Amino acid sequence: MSATGQRAFGRLDGRRAFVTGGAQGIGAAIAHGFASAGAQVVIADLDIAAGPLLAERIGARAIGLDVSDAATVRAAVGQHGPFDILVNNAGIDQHAFFTETSETDWARLIGVNLVGVLACTQAVLPAMQAAGFGRIINITSEAARLGSKGGAVYSAAKGGVIAFTKSLARENARFGITANCIAPGPIRTPMLEQAVATGGERLLRAMTEATLLRRLGEPEEVASAALFLASDQAGYITGETLGVSGGMGLGG
Ligand SMILES: NC(=O)c1ccc[n+]([C@@H]2O[C@H](COP(=O)([O-])OP(=O)(O)OC[C@H]3O[C@@H](n4cnc5c(N)ncnc54)[C@H](O)[C@@H]3O)[C@@H](O)[C@H]2O)c1
Repeated sequence: MSATGQRAFGRLDGRRAFVTGGAQGIGAAIAHGFASAGAQVVIADLDIAAGPLLAERIGARAIGLDVSDAATVRAAVGQHGPFDILVNNAGIDQHAFFTETSETDWARLIGVNLVGVLACTQAVLPAMQAAGFGRIINITSEAARLGSKGGAVYSAAKGGVIAFTKSLARENARFGITANCIAPGPIRTPMLEQAVATGGERLLRAMTEATLLRRLGEPEEVASAALFLASDQAGYITGETLGVSGGMGLGG
């Protein structure tokens, strides 16, 4: 801590963080980054095999959780909280043109990608408000800002996350709570690998060429943005969406 009471840049010592979908991919990199920065991390993930393995390796805790089930989320946060930092990272996608999607697909995609964010946020907020501090970081997608051919429902849910985050920022500024989004572009994770397995090399080339940097991003490059937004030094940033997408927003 400095004389002003701030931790050193990049440190999260003493902070308690709840990272959803932290068993693999971007969430795992965030959990690892936060734990290395001194935070006490709880990984909440559907995957009850990979979560505990990672948790043990990085000195975190892991719980099995479906973020779209609000009652279970409330109980888990009651049991393992309170938290200073929430990272709403758990997400699922689906590659299909909108006309080929069903109501069941809509419910699933919106249930995890949007309702899951609402459920986890509502569960952690009362304690953050009481403490007068909180950092909420929501992982959305450039698909929300640019649209996505073959990902209409996913983009709708992720766009909802951006709108929700701005409202959260407005409602919670007076409690010392910031709320921001990170919008990744194509990041090398199991989710992306699965998309490429379906869409083939053409999809991979199209995703790469949509970035100015002409490459995929790495999970650690998203984690470093999350670490910054969680830090003491990011206290004057709220309601924003930070693209981590190789300049995708400017067009390829
Ligand atoms: N990889 C990309 O290119 C990319 C791009 C833009 C946005 N994103 C977003 O980043 C986030 C992480 O993506 P990723 O690529 O690491 O995905 P991933 O599929 O590799 O990992 C997602 C993790 O979330 C967990 N999860 C899924 N549904 C869950 C649920 N209902 N409850 C709890 N956990 C659940 C999975 O078990 C998995 O461990 C997602 O929100 C995704 O939409 C990813």
